[in-house]
Amino acid sequence: MTIFLVGFMGCGKSTVARGLAELSGFRYVDLDQEVCRKAQRESVAEIFAEMGEEKFRRLEREAIEHLSTEGDVVVATGGGAPCYGDNMDRLMELGVTVYLRMSADALTERLQRVRVVRPKIVGLSPEELSEYVRGLLVEREPIYNRARVVVDCDGIPSRVVISRLRYLTKKRN
Ligand code: S3P
Repeated sequence: MTIFLVGFMGCGKSTVARGLAELSGFRYVDLDQEVCRKAQRESVAEIFAEMGEEKFRRLEREAIEHLSTEGDVVVATGGGAPCYGDNMDRLMELGVTVYLRMSADALTERLQRVRVVRPKIVGLSPEELSEYVRGLLVEREPIYNRARVVVDCDGIPSRVVISRLRYLTKKRN
């Protein structure tokens, strides 16, 4: 069984995916890391800088197609992954999709705090970041909302989100 976590940058997909996988004996896969491996680059930022976003999106799609969904896997997808082409349809065909929903305010606050280099938000002032998150979330949320499971994550610690999702990995066929 494959579980795909989708949601905006900063909503905690990687932490939740890693924790859920560990707790459930599933393999953990990070889609961004898969893309980096394919591109033979160290980071997403490097791919954006050297190859551009369009190429990144093509590689991202290929990574989705080539994901080994053998056995039990929890995949943390990139925030934009479901939002390009028919990627969301594809994710829904391949496994159980889970949207980690978080408000624009909470996302902005977390993205401000967690200073991982994300090419789409690098160099934005706090005001610009807030506006950017709000606008992009409005665009993307209808796609995220198609996920089979939606979990509200505002103000909820990752370990609680993980325990709320645990039933999914127990339901084996
Ligand atoms: C992106 C989100 C990133 C990464 C890339 C683009 C986006 O992943 O795929 O920087 O378009 O929202 P995270 O959601 O893991 O930060």
